[in-house]
Amino acid sequence: MFGKRSNNGPEPRGPVETLPPAPAPVEAPSRGIEVGRAPLPSAGLAAPIVSPPLAPESRGQPAMPAPSATDARRSESYYETKGTIFSALIEAIDLAQLARLDAESAREEIRDIVNEIIAIKNIVMSISEQEELLEDICNDVLGYGPLEPLLARDDIADIMVNGASTVYIEVAGKIQRTGIRFRDNQQLLNICQRIVSQIGRRVDEASPICDARLPDGSRVNVIVPPLALDGPSLTIRKFRKDKLTLDQLVRFGTITPAGAELIKIIGRCRVNTLVSGGTGSGKTTLLNTLTAFIDDDERVITCEDAAELQLQQPHVVRLETRPPNLEGEGQVTMRDLVRNCLRMRPERIIVGEVRGPEAFDLLQAMNTGHDGSMGTLHANNPREALSRIESMITMGGFSLPSKTIREMVCASVDLIVQTARLRDGSRRITHLTEVMGMEGDVIITQDLFVYEILGEDAAGKLIGRHRSTGIGRPKFWDRARYYGEEKRLAAALDAAEVADEPLKTQ
Ligand SMILES: Nc1ncnc2c1ncn2[C@@H]1O[C@H](COP(=O)(O)OP(=O)(O)OP(=O)(O)O)[C@@H](O)[C@H]1O
Ligand SMILES: [Mg+2]
Repeated sequence: MFGKRSNNGPEPRGPVETLPPAPAPVEAPSRGIEVGRAPLPSAGLAAPIVSPPLAPESRGQPAMPAPSATDARRSESYYETKGTIFSALIEAIDLAQLARLDAESAREEIRDIVNEIIAIKNIVMSISEQEELLEDICNDVLGYGPLEPLLARDDIADIMVNGASTVYIEVAGKIQRTGIRFRDNQQLLNICQRIVSQIGRRVDEASPICDARLPDGSRVNVIVPPLALDGPSLTIRKFRKDKLTLDQLVRFGTITPAGAELIKIIGRCRVNTLVSGGTGSGKTTLLNTLTAFIDDDERVITCEDAAELQLQQPHVVRLETRPPNLEGEGQVTMRDLVRNCLRMRPERIIVGEVRGPEAFDLLQAMNTGHDGSMGTLHANNPREALSRIESMITMGGFSLPSKTIREMVCASVDLIVQTARLRDGSRRITHLTEVMGMEGDVIITQDLFVYEILGEDAAGKLIGRHRSTGIGRPKFWDRARYYGEEKRLAAALDAAEVADEPLKTQ
């Protein structure tokens, strides 16, 4: 037997009304395990549910639920019953002992106790309701509560929690509201604390913003009141273990086979590339697929805010920035990393996201012999990407005339790959655009390959097509020849031009 149940013996069975009043809510500390609660033999009524925090390693992996389980809206009585059972459970178990068990055994113990409580309290529910409730309660005690079923789903790209009762997810490029909710903002805040405590942080009024990561690598942002007005706000970019490959992107219609061939050549021939796009448009995914074509003998250094890239090459050094600690010290910025990189004998530098003065260092790296360096940035089209780079450098405090900055951009960046999430939820590569040079004060660009929207079908899906713009000799032609890829490049450009394929509607 386990926990306090063994000390107290079986609880008397009886109707709910005969039970003593509800115990005080369990206040969850930010870290560690709450140990040694006084034994309480019976359960209380609908007390607030507050999940006691457990070490992240003890999180169980819940079985993959059907999507409908996360979409169904549950009734008030479900939450009331869950509250009653949860309070009784918290009184009955010894959390310190529970923490010593592995995830599977802890789950088993909780299930046993909850089943007993349901029997003792004569709560009437069907087997499937009981199963759902058991799963829910296990998630509250051992994991991230109501978020667990969402975290277990592989088809979700983002989870967005706007206060306790509003949870949105992004599936297949579309944002949709779920029926998931937290008992109250306190439970949500406790889960936020549990997440950020893994990187030694706390979120509270004094420090209401925090970036963190889940054990599986998912990127998390937490912002709490008073900055978030309607309760804690939690945003999770789910980490995809099996990163999308270029073949998969072709299958999704993100790019055509001919366009994919161009991407492969660009990756191989050490073309300095910026991947530009809106938020969640697939920039990091595309950067990752581009890196797949880097030769195995190249030394690659990656700099990221949160390590998302998964390079397959053997010779890779991965670097990650560090936020300041609670005292505001110890920060290592992207600029620090990129500058340090230059002293690490890199052949290529890959910057996960360029958003500040590190743009200057990346450009310098690109035109000082680190050909084939890459980075992503937020911009809605290739021209905007160029002016964003310019303003990042200007705002970084470099007092250079804008013409000099533009010349530097031209000398460094060879190509911009533009990604977009279209209004029907589909993600497309919309431009492969070369940076040609300057004419007076203006940077000249040339589109090689574009996506045209032609219309919309009855179901609201956009109809469009990728096509080459007819350029036969791109600027990186000589480079392709140097790498022995010119025939392949010519063939890919030809295929893209004549490929009047059936219009893609997916
Ligand atoms: N071409 C695609 N087709 C379908 N899904 C995609 C595609 N590209 C990316 N995704 C999915 O979209 C989500 C967002 O992708 P990604 O992280 O690459 O976007 P991002 O532009 O880097 O976002 P952010 O601006 O937040 O950094 C991920 O879940 C990813 O798996
Ligand atoms: Mg990204």
